[in-house]
Amino acid sequence: MKRQKIVAGNWKMNKTHEEALSLAQTLTEKSLPSDVKVILCTPSVFCSEVGKIVANHPSLNIGAQNCHHEESGAYTGEVSAAMLQSIGVQYVIVGHSERREYQKETSAVLVKKIDLLQSKGMTPIYCCGEPLKIREKGTHVRHVAKQIKDELFHLDKDAVQNIIIAYEPIWAIGTGLTASPEQAQEMHNEIRKVLQRKYGKRVSDKISILYGGSANAANAKTLFAQPDVDGGLIGGASLKADDFTTICNSY
Ligand code: 13P
Repeated sequence: MKRQKIVAGNWKMNKTHEEALSLAQTLTEKSLPSDVKVILCTPSVFCSEVGKIVANHPSLNIGAQNCHHEESGAYTGEVSAAMLQSIGVQYVIVGHSERREYQKETSAVLVKKIDLLQSKGMTPIYCCGEPLKIREKGTHVRHVAKQIKDELFHLDKDAVQNIIIAYEPIWAIGTGLTASPEQAQEMHNEIRKVLQRKYGKRVSDKISILYGGSANAANAKTLFAQPDVDGGLIGGASLKADDFTTICNSY
């Protein structure tokens, strides 16, 4: 089964205006594979301009890192899905562990965000993953399966195919500790099996599952070589044009 290969860069809260535009411009000048969808999830203040820079590029796309779960209203400082859509954003990260932890985002809130984005024809990049304690206890598969059931299982067969899943073990994010290719493959395969039991093989075979957590130019190749790893959600290494380009060319 050929699935869409995807590399998404999560710039997190990094880069000034000038730096952001310069990184995007540099990426447009690099040689990127045409069969890989590359998504730049920039801070939302830069989405509009970066979106214009990548607009006619065959592989580059613009994404955001979050949106509010309500349509609009009195939510000072927040950014809505409709606002992002109106500036051309197609992809939005939902459920990143940093937001689950620091903004106390719950499964109920994530479900609302996913539904809101999908109602606008936008694609959520849905993150799941276990903390170190759970990995050490050996219950990581059960933990991630529960996240998927609680947060994605309300979707029907069509809707679930409009989700990109990113498995990001929390202990590997920004720590330099990467999941081994075997650990990544094990979890990606378990995620696919959870999806298969609910939606059938035809559907589960179509859903791209990305790995995130200290993925870099040196380890991307072995991670992406795993049969159920369809790409990466890249933090730190997405801030450097050369490293990110190498990762995009690691299939
Ligand atoms: P790092 O690649 O910096 O570990 O971050 C991963 C991540 O959180 C991407 O969303």
